[in-house]
Amino acid sequence: MDGKGAHLAFKSRWRKTDEELCRHSMSFILHKAIRSDFFQSYLYLLERLPLDCKRLQILRKVKLYALTSEVINGEMQFYARAKHFYREVPATEEGMMGDYIELSSTDIESSREFLRKFIGGPGKAGTEHALDCGSGIGRVTKHVLLPVFKSVELVDMMENFLAEAQNYLQGKKDRVKMYYCYSLQEFTPAPQKYDVIWIQWVSGYLTDKDLLEFLIRCQNGLKDNGVVILKDNVAREGCILDPLDSSVIRDLSILRSLVEKSGLTILQQERQEGFPEQCVPVWMLAMQKNPGVP
Ligand SMILES: C[S@@+](CC[C@H](N)C(=O)[O-])C[C@H]1O[C@@H](n2cnc3c(N)ncnc32)[C@H](O)[C@@H]1O
Repeated sequence: MDGKGAHLAFKSRWRKTDEELCRHSMSFILHKAIRSDFFQSYLYLLERLPLDCKRLQILRKVKLYALTSEVINGEMQFYARAKHFYREVPATEEGMMGDYIELSSTDIESSREFLRKFIGGPGKAGTEHALDCGSGIGRVTKHVLLPVFKSVELVDMMENFLAEAQNYLQGKKDRVKMYYCYSLQEFTPAPQKYDVIWIQWVSGYLTDKDLLEFLIRCQNGLKDNGVVILKDNVAREGCILDPLDSSVIRDLSILRSLVEKSGLTILQQERQEGFPEQCVPVWMLAMQKNPGVP
């Protein structure tokens, strides 16, 4: 009896909250049910299609898009905001390092060591041409790529960074063959041209779909034994949106699944050492096209 009284008192006091909670939880359940029903029917329809490349492509996309599409609110806005952010970033090493300039030499040293494992020698990448993607002013080109490769090309979406690169890389400018002012989601590396394609601190500015398609285009841009090296911040779990610069930080399993879906094989992955514990972990992934892929 006492229990019943307490229950009624509680019920009347919390009725409003109860109703609201109920309403919200109902809409949440409904939302989830509709979404999962939609995907189930979608997948059912796909099952009925013959198992050809098209169907496989669609299946892969459906599974992948769920990963980051929930944190990206509109693809156009996602890219426009990043451009807006970079308009205010100085064309300096400090700007490229997002005010962590003190980490630049540690980053460069580790990148050089990592790169050495995949170049020069039988079955390894050559040292003719490299492509620096999301190059900014060419910090990686200057310190990591130009000391190794005969020629380097830069691609970045910001014209002023590429213009500054011409001063910043002075003395070595003659070995910088091209400055492409493109967004990576719209850029196609020349086919079978590059020994190494370097993608550093830029993959988070691409949606899953665009990163996947870009990796596929990079694969076509590799010479035999060529490697793609991707270096980026990696979340401890899941996918985090940084609204400040409009980027996402993916965890290693998401990143690896995108790489694998692109058809590239991961040769090695290594965590950047020597960065402060409070920094987001940074990882380097070296990848190669599958033997047999033309
Ligand atoms: C953090 S900076 C890194 C620059 C360089 N990779 C480095 O490590 O010094 C990110 C660079 O990515 C470029 N970027 C961002 N989104 C891009 C996109 N969608 N396509 C091409 N470049 C992009 C920016 O303009 C900027 O130069």
